[in-house]
Amino acid sequence: MTSPLVQRRIITAVVFAAALTPAILLAWKAAHGLLSANPIKDITEETGTWTLRFLVITLAIRPLRRLPGLARLAGYRRMMGLFAFFYGFLHFGTYVGLDQFFDLSMIIDDVMKRPFITAGVTAFALMIPLAATSTKGMIRRMGGARWKLLHRLVYASATGGVIHYLWLIKADKQRPLIYGAILAVLLGYRIWEYWKQRRTTPAR
Ligand code: HEM
Repeated sequence: MTSPLVQRRIITAVVFAAALTPAILLAWKAAHGLLSANPIKDITEETGTWTLRFLVITLAIRPLRRLPGLARLAGYRRMMGLFAFFYGFLHFGTYVGLDQFFDLSMIIDDVMKRPFITAGVTAFALMIPLAATSTKGMIRRMGGARWKLLHRLVYASATGGVIHYLWLIKADKQRPLIYGAILAVLLGYRIWEYWKQRRTTPAR
């Protein structure tokens, strides 16, 4: 019989490996020439999609952990958030390095002229303070209340990500709209939970 601690470590390792798999598969395909005729577009699309998926997974943990038997999901929220940042970093890095060849003036021009790039950069910029303050030491230093307030930015980042996706797709907007609908439900849940807490907690 394995102890609960060992069980938890095994599950954490499995979740970590699963979250890393899309990046490993993508690197493997790129290294073996298995991407399409436009590999940069493939890498951008794949990393962008996973950024949004991990943002949604991170937000979904809040309502899901209330369901019977799923309370332990809360322990994986930080890892999911950091994976969203990891894929966002790869996505942004692909754009900066492979698409724009680190040409800062071209990048600034693009950010000013193409609204979907502006939305993407905003969404990614919002993730940086969240990743930077994700350690236990930072939670202690900032204080729980301030830390929680800052981390509500994850909703703004995910909204920016959905807007970015909606604006970049010209024809079939079904997929970004599905992400938008899921995000609206998660945001609605958070607002409802916030009001419920305010009504039940006496003012200090
Ligand atoms: C939270 C931040 C971001 C999220 C969630 C996100 C998400 C996405 C998604 C879902 C796609 C489309 C994938 C598909 O077509 O299947 C995409 C494409 C793209 N993203 Fe992002 N993105 C983010 C930030 C950025 C940033 C910072 C940049 C660049 C400065 C960027 C540049 C692009 C480009 C160039 C494309 C491909 C457009 C095309 O197909 O022509 N994204 N992104």
